[in-house]
Amino acid sequence: MGKKLFIKTYGCQMNVYDSARMADLLAPLGYGLTEDQSDADMVILNTCHIREKAADKTFSELGRLRAQRHERQQAGKDTIIAVAGCVAQAEGAEIMRRVPDIDIVLGPQTYHRLPEMVARATRARAQKLMQPSAFGGERKFGAGILDTDFPPESKFDFLPETTTEGSTAFLAIQEGCDKFCTFCVVPYTRGAEFSRPVAQIAAEARHLVARGAREITLLGQNVNAYHGEGPDGATWSLARLVRYLADEVPDLLRIRYTTSHPRDMDDALIAAHGELPQLMPFLHLPVQSGSDRILAEMNRQHTADHFRRIVDRLRKARPDLALSSDFIVGFPGESDADHRATLRLIEEIGFAQSFSFKYSARPGTPAAMLEKQVPVAVMDARLQEMQALLESQLMAFNRATVGKRVPVLFERAGKRPGQLTGKSPWLQPVHANLSADCLGREIEIEITELGHYSLGGQPTDHQPAAGHAVFDQPERAIA
Ligand code: 5AD
Ligand code: SF4
Repeated sequence: MGKKLFIKTYGCQMNVYDSARMADLLAPLGYGLTEDQSDADMVILNTCHIREKAADKTFSELGRLRAQRHERQQAGKDTIIAVAGCVAQAEGAEIMRRVPDIDIVLGPQTYHRLPEMVARATRARAQKLMQPSAFGGERKFGAGILDTDFPPESKFDFLPETTTEGSTAFLAIQEGCDKFCTFCVVPYTRGAEFSRPVAQIAAEARHLVARGAREITLLGQNVNAYHGEGPDGATWSLARLVRYLADEVPDLLRIRYTTSHPRDMDDALIAAHGELPQLMPFLHLPVQSGSDRILAEMNRQHTADHFRRIVDRLRKARPDLALSSDFIVGFPGESDADHRATLRLIEEIGFAQSFSFKYSARPGTPAAMLEKQVPVAVMDARLQEMQALLESQLMAFNRATVGKRVPVLFERAGKRPGQLTGKSPWLQPVHANLSADCLGREIEIEITELGHYSLGGQPTDHQPAAGHAVFDQPERAIA
């Protein structure tokens, strides 16, 4: 009988990728993924520490899990409980202290050691259950495993081939961050910048494509700072890597990359957007604020004008490029004038999609120590105003797609019978009535319906050969 593994993933796409890799690592130990947390033999919480109350959420979830384990123990079963990800990295010792019967706490850079940790935890639990203590079978003091090292070896050298399937896939190419924005925990939880070698990335890309991927999103906390070892021994940039994947991986129709920093948008990468049809005309480029004073306090190392110039150059290279971004409202000391500068920038640029957050003081970051924290009520009002503007831009962008013919890569069954759902080049969800053999294919769809966050349409008569759709550059979807 196989064992059941449940992984709950919080936060970013990198965590989604890491969760899939942890599942790959545990498959040889007999663990298969389950959707049913209540009957899992092992539960991993893959946590996020980027904003608000992440640690509190982890502790309350752990409380629930322990109660659930207790119930399973009544039925003669047992559960291994592990906390992974950035809360584990930042609060590992505290988790061990407050939850003494936790089995495993591991950071984002040590999960290649998970099989060994699970083997040790399994032995420890078996011994403990055979010799119940005076405390009802649960140990009182931490004999759990804590591994939040930043090891000298790269975990990527120890990961098995991925078993990920589906027409879209994530591929981590870079990790960590050396930028030290004053609000952000990432440099502390994920560590210093690291880039995987090109050969390793290309092998994983080919493997994913062989398993059905037609779109790959290259991931990194600072992905456009990528500087990995090329097959020629030289250091390659992201532009060079993307060009190589576009040329060398047949059947890879679409390439995306996220998340980028404005400082690292170099000429070659901007040019690649104009030259490579596989590089999708959609870019997530966080700007955080439109006020130069706040950008300086954030240590972003760019100004609002610097951002405007990058966007101009990108749009010159690829006129139909759409943008999304991240914004923080209420950074310490943010005035009404600073807030209005951000709204102005948003109005000028026009974003197809965006993420906006209230500033959250992260323990140990320089901004958390700043005086003049902005009152919550002010943050709430600013966030509401900003989100109304961003929402109107998203709706305008989607509205502008109605009546257009766009290539859609179909990924999964839709909500209604006979429907498939996929994504446009601009990451808009699109549904259409199509048979299941259209999954994993790019199909030209005439958009006829505008939903709240999605579009609907019908296939046109003009269809390229199955699986090989590389369309001409479509018209710009936003004016
Ligand atoms: N408070 C609010 N938002 C934050 N982000 C990162 N750190 C914080 C913080 N302390 C946001 C940034 C980043 C996104 C992933 O999360 O906008 O780009
Ligand atoms: Fe955090 Fe700034 Fe690095 Fe992005 S660039 S991960 S916001 S420190």
